[in-house]
Amino acid sequence: MAFCSISSMFILLFSFTTLLWTAATSIQVHETDTSILLANDLISFGLLKTTSAIQNLTYQDVSLLGTVDGLTGQAYTDFPSNTFTTTGNSSYEIVTGSDWAGVVFTDNDTVGSTVQRSWFLHDSEPGIHSFVRLAYYNDTVTSKGELGESRTMFRPNGGPWTHIITNREQWAPLPGAAAVANEVVVQDATWYLGNTPDDPYVVAESDYFTKYQFADNQTNKAHGLFGHSPDNLTTLGAWWVVNQKDTFFGGPLHGDLMVDGIIYNKQSTNHGGAT
Ligand SMILES: *[C@@H]1O[C@H](CO)[C@@H](O)[C@H](O)[C@H]1NC(C)=O
Ligand SMILES: *[C@@H]1O[C@H](CO)[C@@H](O)[C@H](O)[C@H]1NC(C)=O
Ligand SMILES: *[C@@H]1O[C@H](CO)[C@@H](O)[C@H](O)[C@H]1NC(C)=O
Ligand SMILES: *[C@@H]1O[C@H](CO)[C@@H](O)[C@H](O)[C@H]1NC(C)=O
Ligand SMILES: *[C@@H]1O[C@H](CO)[C@@H](O)[C@H](O)[C@H]1NC(C)=O
Ligand SMILES: *[C@@H]1O[C@H](CO)[C@@H](O)[C@H](O)[C@H]1NC(C)=O
Repeated sequence: MAFCSISSMFILLFSFTTLLWTAATSIQVHETDTSILLANDLISFGLLKTTSAIQNLTYQDVSLLGTVDGLTGQAYTDFPSNTFTTTGNSSYEIVTGSDWAGVVFTDNDTVGSTVQRSWFLHDSEPGIHSFVRLAYYNDTVTSKGELGESRTMFRPNGGPWTHIITNREQWAPLPGAAAVANEVVVQDATWYLGNTPDDPYVVAESDYFTKYQFADNQTNKAHGLFGHSPDNLTTLGAWWVVNQKDTFFGGPLHGDLMVDGIIYNKQSTNHGGAT
């Protein structure tokens, strides 16, 4: 039997710099025709049944992803190489325990592939646990070819975010609106921002912006976004905290994109020739 499987577990964690723990906690699960809504005392979100994407994510009533516009305003897993792919018609199973709830979305295609994306919420945590599992069972065509790209992305459309953080050393303000409006494309996914020399990003980081500048291996503890709450009374963070690094293709030292406004969790990509 041909079998190929990758799995990845990581936590999307939201935090105030000073976290106020409340003693009373609870989990709410509510299903509508199109969505499954999960909430605890700190965060709430909807999972779109057709795609498994997270939408309408709030942390203490602050919108963290903004409104959905195309693929933005969501957190989701996708497979740009289409080796594994979703069917547009995921089946789902809601699972619950005494202090947690989650949803497992499964897409089985007709040639032996399984794509599973799961999201879990614990009643006491300001974060979401995310799992990706890919498998292939086919005795006659034993290889699907290159795995290609598998990634989970926190892809806000607005929200409170002002800074991108790769690790303790590499972080910067996001380029402001004027910098983006006056940017000049210089090569693939790379812009010259020197037309706005006073922009906070240009002052702090560089005349050029590229997502590759914020790449790293998986030795960082967390990477993500930072900003002020709308009332400006406190600071907010959204962080990928990777639990298990061994199943990254290329291993725990594999270098890949971390954050550029989107927060990435790249389980497998061609970056670094790892697929
Ligand atoms: C998010 O909110 C919008 C607007 O209320 C709604 O149309 C959409 O169904 C919600 N998404 C989910 C996954 O619940
Ligand atoms: C999704 O699956 C259901 C149940 O098998 C089926 O009734 C429906 O037509 C499918 N929809 C699409 C878009 O394939
Ligand atoms: C998907 O395929 C796997 C592996 O063959 C199987 O165990 C599972 O029951 C299938 N799930 C669904 C929802 O069809
Ligand atoms: C194995 O893959 C081939 C080619 O994609 C397909 O025709 C066949 O149905 C698959 N077998 C199973 C058991 O899924
Ligand atoms: C991994 O990244 C860290 C932080 O950026 C760096 O210090 C370290 O040298 C890197 N290790 C390898 C093997 O690339
Ligand atoms: C929010 O507060 C920070 C420091 O606490 C300050 O630097 C910033 O200017 C404030 N922003 C607004 C929009 O008031």
